[in-house]
Amino acid sequence: MRPACRPERGSYEVFEGTDRNRIDSDQRVAKGYCMNRCVCAGCDEVFGKKRVRKDVKRYHDEGLPGTTKILVTELERLGVTGKTLLDIGGGIGLIPLELLPLGVTSAVSLEASATYLTTAKEEAERQGVLSRITFQSGDFVSLAGNVGPADIVTLDKVVCCYADMEGLVTLSADRAQSLYALIYPRDIWWVKFAFALENISMRILGLPRYYVHPTAEVERILHRKNFSKVFSRYKGRWQIAIFKRDSDKESSSSNKSSSKATAQT
Ligand SMILES: C[S@@+](CC[C@H](N)C(=O)[O-])C[C@H]1O[C@@H](n2cnc3c(N)ncnc32)[C@H](O)[C@@H]1O
Repeated sequence: MRPACRPERGSYEVFEGTDRNRIDSDQRVAKGYCMNRCVCAGCDEVFGKKRVRKDVKRYHDEGLPGTTKILVTELERLGVTGKTLLDIGGGIGLIPLELLPLGVTSAVSLEASATYLTTAKEEAERQGVLSRITFQSGDFVSLAGNVGPADIVTLDKVVCCYADMEGLVTLSADRAQSLYALIYPRDIWWVKFAFALENISMRILGLPRYYVHPTAEVERILHRKNFSKVFSRYKGRWQIAIFKRDSDKESSSSNKSSSKATAQT
């Protein structure tokens, strides 16, 4: 059975006759872009109890998946102490669970799947960090107007579940004050082929499809938002990328040069 909440015909109406690319992020929220579109429709069908139980078991037995481990390690290297975190589509909450003990002060965990969110709360309680995480349920693109900024924003394998990559990346980058980290599919032929095969079974099962969005498009949005890439690595079908806000780079380099100057005087 198809999920009840599939993209509806006519749900693009708000932008009829306009150039989508010229609509800024606040307009997207104000105009209710994606409000009825529900492109992460079926999150609970795809990421239901069975999948969630599997994720929890794997985390307890094996620790972090390799890609997430790389992301967490690099974020730690770039500095997380005293920072706040917004984790979008975090599943069982691996990134907050790992970064809070490393010095992140507080986290917001925003997740479209109710099953994942319930389990994320249980895991946070088990690890004694529940009081430091605020949980928000729903589609980030629809809720973005009610989501505050954070020093670090993370999206671990989320962009591949969402059709409106531009809306998701634009709005989430707007909330990142310092670091923006994401794991998403490499857009090369064999990864596209692998996801295309998976999409055939998703279609047969009546579930939403995955997306391999163009890397150049994701990076174009982030550069436009004044982010520069500071880390990138491939692992299997995934790319792990971390971007730093340019103002933040400038202030840290000017801090460094002023402390150098102070040291020289
Ligand atoms: C493939 S899972 C990855 C979960 C987790 N990050 C991990 O790596 O284990 C994608 C997650 O993103 C969530 N998601 C997708 N689009 C979203 C959106 N627009 N807002 C909030 N959550 C979203 C889904 O509900 C799902 O839990």
